Amino acid sequence: MRVLVTGGAGQLGHDVLKQLHRMQIEAIGADKDEFDLLDTFAAQEFILACKPDTVIHCAAYTQVDQAEDEPDICRNINIAGTEHVAQACLKAGSSLCYLSTDYVFDGTLSGRAYEVSDRPNPLSVYGQSKYEGEKITAGLIANHYIVRTSWLFGSHGHNFVKTMLKMGEFSPSLRVVADQTGSPTYTADLARFLADLIQTENFGCYHVTNSGFCSWADFAAEIFVQMGWPVAVERIPSVDYPTKATRPKNSRLSPQSIIQAGLPLLPDWKDGLSRFLKEINAV
Ligand SMILES: NC(=O)c1ccc[n+]([C@@H]2O[C@H](COP(=O)([O-])OP(=O)(O)OC[C@H]3O[C@@H](n4cnc5c(N)ncnc54)[C@H](OP(=O)(O)O)[C@@H]3O)[C@@H](O)[C@H]2O)c1
Repeated sequence: MRVLVTGGAGQLGHDVLKQLHRMQIEAIGADKDEFDLLDTFAAQEFILACKPDTVIHCAAYTQVDQAEDEPDICRNINIAGTEHVAQACLKAGSSLCYLSTDYVFDGTLSGRAYEVSDRPNPLSVYGQSKYEGEKITAGLIANHYIVRTSWLFGSHGHNFVKTMLKMGEFSPSLRVVADQTGSPTYTADLARFLADLIQTENFGCYHVTNSGFCSWADFAAEIFVQMGWPVAVERIPSVDYPTKATRPKNSRLSPQSIIQAGLPLLPDWKDGLSRFLKEINAV
């Protein structure tokens, strides 16, 4: 089996490539140097030359707040770029695994996690662009997997854990949003899931995160507990921490799609966090 991973130098793509190599699956990473998503011909040329069985499309415009100021760049990369990849997959006969996000939902659902059957209603430019990418993937490629995930942390990227470590090292207390709930997800765990998934013919849409859920404030508090740092976390509402893009309050993604496909659930997020802190030699 040959797999092409777009965004191979990004936070998730890096760990997906590492996992595929570990499983001795032939894997090729592509980033802007190999082909720019904005270039139709470059994407087609590269994918047709490499003829992968599957493309795992991790590359994306991921700056959620900045996207509100540069919507065209975000849309070009996440919508037009995904279409270029999908058209190339169609020609090459490759299946396509498209990474998407909890931000496709508006977060107004109360009392339960989002199922794959719930209707998306993105609140932000980024969320809308990722939802459009989902529709292109599903519309063009019969053998597709759409994997919605959330709150990623991995060694190869900027993420909430690294920010908390930087800020918590010198601050006795931090103010963190407590009214947004979701599931932190360790990219190494998600990568293992993706590598298993693409070896099945269980095509369709999945919600894939580490197990359990928490608020950003709970997440921060757990980081400091595991670090053994005496940092107090002051729980604040989102209105006291304004951001350009509106985030969903309820970002919880139900694992039901994983269970129905008979695939293993991901470990608890606290367990993922503990392995991540060891991986980056923080503890
Ligand atoms: N991070 C999260 O918390 C989160 C949550 C839910 C879903 N997701 C989704 O998960 C996937 C992986 O996210 P991530 O955190 O790994 O993102 P990331 O670290 O920002 O990686 C994105 C990759 O895409 C590449 N890229 C951007 N524009 C490109 C272009 N025009 N042509 C070719 N490559 C381009 C980037 O390269 P450069 O660095 O050179 O620009 C980078 O390697 C994305 O689809 C994202 O939407 C992420």
